[in-house]
Amino acid sequence: MSVVPSAGNGKITVPSILERKSRVSSQNSTSSKITCLTAYDYPTARLLDEAGVDVLLVGDSLGMVVLGYESTLPVTVEEMLHHTRAVRRGTRRALLVADMPYGSYHDDPAQAVRNAMRFVKEAGAEAIKVEGGERRMEMIARLVDAEIPVMGHIGLTPQSVNAFGGFRVQGKSAEAGEQILRDARAVEAAGAFSVVLESIPRELAARITAELRIPTIGIGAGPDCDGQVLVIHDLLGMSFGHKPKFARSYAGVGEIISRAAAEYCRDVQQGSFPSDDESYHARAEKVGAHSEQHK
Ligand code: KIV
Repeated sequence: MSVVPSAGNGKITVPSILERKSRVSSQNSTSSKITCLTAYDYPTARLLDEAGVDVLLVGDSLGMVVLGYESTLPVTVEEMLHHTRAVRRGTRRALLVADMPYGSYHDDPAQAVRNAMRFVKEAGAEAIKVEGGERRMEMIARLVDAEIPVMGHIGLTPQSVNAFGGFRVQGKSAEAGEQILRDARAVEAAGAFSVVLESIPRELAARITAELRIPTIGIGAGPDCDGQVLVIHDLLGMSFGHKPKFARSYAGVGEIISRAAAEYCRDVQQGSFPSDDESYHARAEKVGAHSEQHK
């Protein structure tokens, strides 16, 4: 099921993502910035992979943008596996990372390892992502020990929405910022190969990025991170409800879909779809023979 990386075929791997960090800092350029987008299905994965996106993340944002839940909390391991398999089938070059959903790693590290192995064995994920910093150190270390590369995720961790009292920017006060810095250090020390920084002040993200040896991937964390991630539905203009200010929309696919569907309804109702050209035709002699039989 997985795409086996081999040197020189352009496949993005965990070591090549790590290597990008040293290239970004040594060249001080933007050319090595890591690009990451979420994907939840085969056609989107193919299009993003072929467009050259480095990392495809099957995020548990799936719950909100695809399945229509109010938060990511109800998403199950089975739902994530189902969508990760679809993305696997459409991905050749990009690194495929799957999110561990809420409840799949919060009990004990053994449970986390068991569930993470399912993403690797049954769905072809090359790495998994878990939310949390200092509190998740032991669990991250256990996953890494089991040969499962881990992407961390700190700052606004959506699985903590009830504890945070909503989707709010994190780390604005000096004290809160220090905690997030400690979280970043913990994730790195535990062996993660990268860390998502979500909705934190850009100054804090820049400080973390300067300090860590592993790449930071920002979402709502300013331009100084080693890479950026967006939810694909935001980028395509296909999401509903509140749109955070960092969620730049690059296309109006939602509007295109609405317009196409409305045109289709109009054509069907007016009888202009399907046309004769869009219809199959029986062979003349067969029609004759057929009608002869039933005469
Ligand atoms: O679930 C998700 O899509 C994510 C990204 C926003 C980082 O965690």
